[in-house]
Amino acid sequence: MSLLLQEGTIGNVTLKNRIVMPPMCMYHADKDGHPNAFHVLHYGSKALGGVGLIIVEATAVESRGRISENDLGIWSDEHIASHRTLTAICHDNGAKIAVQLAHAGRKCECDSEFPVAPSAIAFSTEAPYRIPLMLTLEEIEGIKDSFVRAALRAKEAGYDMVEIHGAHGYLLCEFLSPLSNQRTDRYGGTLENRCRLLVEVTQAVKEAINLPVIVRISAEEWMKEGWNIEDSIALSKALKTAGADVIHVSAGGNQAVTQTQPPIVPLYQAEYAKRIRQEGSIPTIAVGLITTPAEGEALLIGGVCDFVAYGRSLLRNPNLALAAAKEFHETDKIPASFRRGF
Ligand SMILES: Cc1cc2nc3c(=O)[nH]c(=O)nc-3n(C[C@H](O)[C@H](O)[C@H](O)COP(=O)(O)O)c2cc1C
Repeated sequence: MSLLLQEGTIGNVTLKNRIVMPPMCMYHADKDGHPNAFHVLHYGSKALGGVGLIIVEATAVESRGRISENDLGIWSDEHIASHRTLTAICHDNGAKIAVQLAHAGRKCECDSEFPVAPSAIAFSTEAPYRIPLMLTLEEIEGIKDSFVRAALRAKEAGYDMVEIHGAHGYLLCEFLSPLSNQRTDRYGGTLENRCRLLVEVTQAVKEAINLPVIVRISAEEWMKEGWNIEDSIALSKALKTAGADVIHVSAGGNQAVTQTQPPIVPLYQAEYAKRIRQEGSIPTIAVGLITTPAEGEALLIGGVCDFVAYGRSLLRNPNLALAAAKEFHETDKIPASFRRGF
């Protein structure tokens, strides 16, 4: 039997297989941030296609935490009902579902909002980026509160778990890097100080919802003096202590121009997932140009990760998990209604 199609657990939640749909912004919401019929169909199709865990795209915990005016949101209690349509359709079709709780920080592109960040350093001098406002200590408390309230709403909406977005140069990631965070208070300076906000958010969310918590990080920002894999291993240990159940290991996104980025070849980020799993002693989700069931299977056999995320592959083929069942001669895992198609 393949490992990819075997059950896996995150915290106390059992997934029917190890195939994960990673968060992917669809920019398909109205300005109010509510999921709509498009989202129900989009996520529902991946549930029907056999994905074990669906992670809903970056969903803003504050309206100024959106990347665009068309992001999903969960910044008010009014969002709970519309998110319930997503959890219901996925549960009805056998998938578990998480939501990625996000704050865009200095990468907020909304005309109607002003970006905030650890320091007043722009992501880029080019439009649409602006020099962000530096958060005060009091405002940082407010950010933590926004994540906790959003997580409580996610629980109420029926999500099985949440993912905290600490990757790709968005707010929590900006705090990690000495290049984007030049604060001199307890949220800047040393590695421990720069990690503090993400660790505190993780701990507060875990305590509030008592559901499994995934934390997505960028293992490297690919700059000579920047955030790197050694820092990520140290952070992952702290996140584990704070209550994180699994680290979703991505990379990049905090710099408009990088210095040491490797070529984007198949499995190019997998080595980071392996090191965090082994040296941080915490389960990982690997992601990044993993496109075939055989590649995912090899990563699991090789001890690189515990779960495998297929992003763009699932946009191309929502039935990737069913195709894997066919490929691994486990057609009993294809729902009877579809079996004749395989
Ligand atoms: C259309 C699109 C939207 C994305 N949006 C998000 C997002 O909301 N949050 C996030 O953490 N990553 C996002 N990503 C990154 C993906 O989750 C994933 O890490 C990336 O596509 C690499 O995996 P892949 O090669 O399997 O596609 C996005 C990627 C794509 C293609």
